Amino acid sequence: MRPSRRPENPCFGSGPTAKRPGWSPEILSGALVGRSHRSAEAKARLGEVLERSRALLGLPDDFLIGILPGSDTGAFEAAMWGLLGARGVDVLAFDSFGRDWLSDARVQLRLEDLRAFEADYGELPDLGKVDRGRDLVLTWNGTTSGVRVPDGEWIADDRAGLTLCDATSAAFAMDLPWSKLDVVTYSWQKALGGEAQHGVLILSPRAVVRLESHAPRWPVPKLFRLIKGGRLIEGVFRGETINTPSMLAVEDALDGLRWAEGIGGLPALIGRAEGNLATVADWVAQSSWARFLASRAEIRSPTSICLDIAEPEVAAWPAERQGALIETMTGLLAGEGVAYDIASYREAPPGLRVWGGATVEQADLAALLPWLDFAFVEARKQLER
Ligand SMILES: Cc1ncc(COP(=O)(O)O)c(C=O)c1O
Repeated sequence: MRPSRRPENPCFGSGPTAKRPGWSPEILSGALVGRSHRSAEAKARLGEVLERSRALLGLPDDFLIGILPGSDTGAFEAAMWGLLGARGVDVLAFDSFGRDWLSDARVQLRLEDLRAFEADYGELPDLGKVDRGRDLVLTWNGTTSGVRVPDGEWIADDRAGLTLCDATSAAFAMDLPWSKLDVVTYSWQKALGGEAQHGVLILSPRAVVRLESHAPRWPVPKLFRLIKGGRLIEGVFRGETINTPSMLAVEDALDGLRWAEGIGGLPALIGRAEGNLATVADWVAQSSWARFLASRAEIRSPTSICLDIAEPEVAAWPAERQGALIETMTGLLAGEGVAYDIASYREAPPGLRVWGGATVEQADLAALLPWLDFAFVEARKQLER
């Protein structure tokens, strides 16, 4: 049956994600446009993003947080380029971004002592194989597979290696165990619904020691350079960005942070994401055709919620035909103004991916689910016609 109610906000994409409830372009009216990013006022605003982010995330006092160019990719590659090569490296790859970092390590940096632990979409590699003596590169939440690591218990407190963690779809939605992490990166267009543009780089004191003592064997582009004359460029962690930032994006990031503080901070953000996952899980439990790509509940992401098709006849179709079904479904849903951007990632198995981070209202998600049932039946009819 065709549902009668539509979600108020049809933005369910996994980045850029839905703006926070109540957002309007008006919130940008006070942005420091046309001003130098080196002016005292602009530096204060950049610094304010860093301080509010630090407080919201609950960073330890001795960790540094800075804004980098190139979004999450820029921040994470700056860390890889600046830190790796000092000791052996273990890379966990269980979604396409993890595989990108593995490719960076293997093909670009040509690390000789490299171990790759890979898993198919929906699974995690064996975390027990990670060696405390080696550096570790991982994605906390696989945005394209809907899988997250369940916790940080498996990362040794007394590790000799550094943990480099891409947390772009985890930050502000999941607990991150700071004592287990040395580098954490994310971008603004995920859990707080910010604008794409800049990356955030968080460094533990041990990561700073490595940066200052290790000379990479490869060239480090200016965009990734955090060291000058063997010392950390500390200004980067006070809002003195490497190159020109967008003050519009900065204003929008501040709005997202203030909103998050206003609803109750990190516990409220996590609660909203978990509530959204629970809403989808209740629906999956009685669905005749959909299932989670991640079969184990403890590794299931509450932000990038990935589903594939369980209905036996359709599940037996070749991937290309399943892909055509998903395309028809998502086309129908977008045409109805019910949901945008919910097809699974282009390299992932055919399915749906619905963002469940805090900026998505549970009522909107609840309104979407009957439309998924409707679209499945309609799209199948169209394909079988
Ligand atoms: C886990 C992960 N890493 C990296 C990226 C790339 O992010 P950006 O486009 O902000 O560089 C994404 C984007 O979705 C992601 O989900």
